[in-house]
Amino acid sequence: MAAGKGTRLNSKRPKVLHQVGGRALLLHVIAAAKTLVPADRIYCIIGHQADRVRAAAEATGVRFVLQEVQLGTGHAMQELKAYLEARAKSPRVGYFVLPEPRSAASQAKHRELSEWLETAGLPIPKHLLVLSGDVPLIQPETLASLCDLHLAERAAMTILTAVPQDPTGYGRVFRTAPGSPEVTAIIEQKALTPAQLAAPEINSGIYCFETQALFEKLDRLSADNAHGEFYLTDVAAMLVADGRRVVALQAGSVNQVLGANTIAEMMHLDHAIRISVAERLMAQGVSIFRPETCIIDAEVTVGADTVIEPYVQLLGVTRIGSDCRVRSYSVVQDSVLGDGVTIRNGCILDGAEVGDGAVIGPYAHLRPESRIGEQAHVGNFCETKKTTLGRGSKANHLTYLGDAIIGDGVNVGAGVITCNYDGVHKHTTTIGDGVFVGSDSTLVAPISIGKGAYIGAGSCITHPVPADALAIGRAQQVTKEGWAAARRAATKKT
Ligand code: UD1
Ligand code: CA
Repeated sequence: MAAGKGTRLNSKRPKVLHQVGGRALLLHVIAAAKTLVPADRIYCIIGHQADRVRAAAEATGVRFVLQEVQLGTGHAMQELKAYLEARAKSPRVGYFVLPEPRSAASQAKHRELSEWLETAGLPIPKHLLVLSGDVPLIQPETLASLCDLHLAERAAMTILTAVPQDPTGYGRVFRTAPGSPEVTAIIEQKALTPAQLAAPEINSGIYCFETQALFEKLDRLSADNAHGEFYLTDVAAMLVADGRRVVALQAGSVNQVLGANTIAEMMHLDHAIRISVAERLMAQGVSIFRPETCIIDAEVTVGADTVIEPYVQLLGVTRIGSDCRVRSYSVVQDSVLGDGVTIRNGCILDGAEVGDGAVIGPYAHLRPESRIGEQAHVGNFCETKKTTLGRGSKANHLTYLGDAIIGDGVNVGAGVITCNYDGVHKHTTTIGDGVFVGSDSTLVAPISIGKGAYIGAGSCITHPVPADALAIGRAQQVTKEGWAAARRAATKKT
């Protein structure tokens, strides 16, 4: 269920696209579901900003069911029921070719039709596992135990529960007797009587259903409650009234079933994920000083004996080798670092590759497609973009290298700039092995500098430089002896 707006967030972004641990809530939930069933057996109910949510989850391969107006979790399941029933009844047609889609709208229609054709006549599954798009920390093993219990108990409904420190805000699960697996009802927070307020066991919003038992009850739900919504949770008492078996399973850890309804709750979950990621890395031999100050996304990997200093962010699909050191205030996103790399303080790496033993920073900015070779140095206030810097090459101070292919053992002096942009197009600078580029030179691309050449400091290089040459492109120095003294004498007050 991912159709809700997330009113309590006060955000323009749909709730299930808010991120914890560097990944949208919904993508966490889909990832957990995919450990149990193939993606094409997962139905994602979307509604609020449906196109945006669909676009964010499309690549996972799940199917989508539209809940155009969001009248509650019970209504979400009514929409799923309508979809599955219509599909099951729809005849399996032979074969016909759809016209090539042109506009975005016709592409969407095309997709919908092809999916329908693909799945027409599919029987309704006997059991359903229902997950909430805003309960992201759920673990595969817990879902597997829930399904196992559901089948073993031959239950009509099996509810995943937990007993958190503060149950306020959640629906509460009432059992026939303490310790009994059997449930009598789920009661939403606003409908709790004063005596029930202290009830400790919460409904996680995650359930297994025998599909037909659920479907029979859905049409009879009423929206006569505090929110004016159709509550899926009301199905529990309705099934019990019919003499059907409704049971509950308490999750092993509370964090797994915490919901994210407010930004504060989201930040709490984010913290929980990041601490667990840091703990996983530390167990693998990574030293993380003050891990509570670091932001490490769930998919990041780090090799043993690497040291992460306080206030570091490792984001996206970053991979860091062994024996590296990432110093404070560096932000590394979607980048690959070899072994023994040093990232000094305050660096920003985005989509960069850094070879073994390279030293970056302090205060360097490696932008996408920067490939820094083994043992190379990129120092203070340097920026690179779409640039390869060869093995052992150095650009240590105040330099911009964009669209450049730089060989091995090159020395790029302080303040060197590759002028890669002519106002319309980007051009390439090629620098051969062993070149020395004097400080404050500008290399106007497209340009190439042959192996072993020297560029005099302060040059503006606009023509290719052959190997082993010296190129100087600056005005000749003029020295006028005695000029300053003469000027002082001439301007002396009489
Ligand atoms: C729900 C449960 C509550 C439980 C809590 C656990 C109900 C009535 N209550 O409350 O017992 O303790 O989850 O987190 O179910 N959604 C739709 N369509 C809708 C409404 C919601 O798809 O019309 C989706 C939301 O996007 C969300 C999920 O269903 O992912 C849960 O909805 P939400 O409104 O957050 O329910 P809670 O009030 O948290
Ligand atoms: Ca919720």
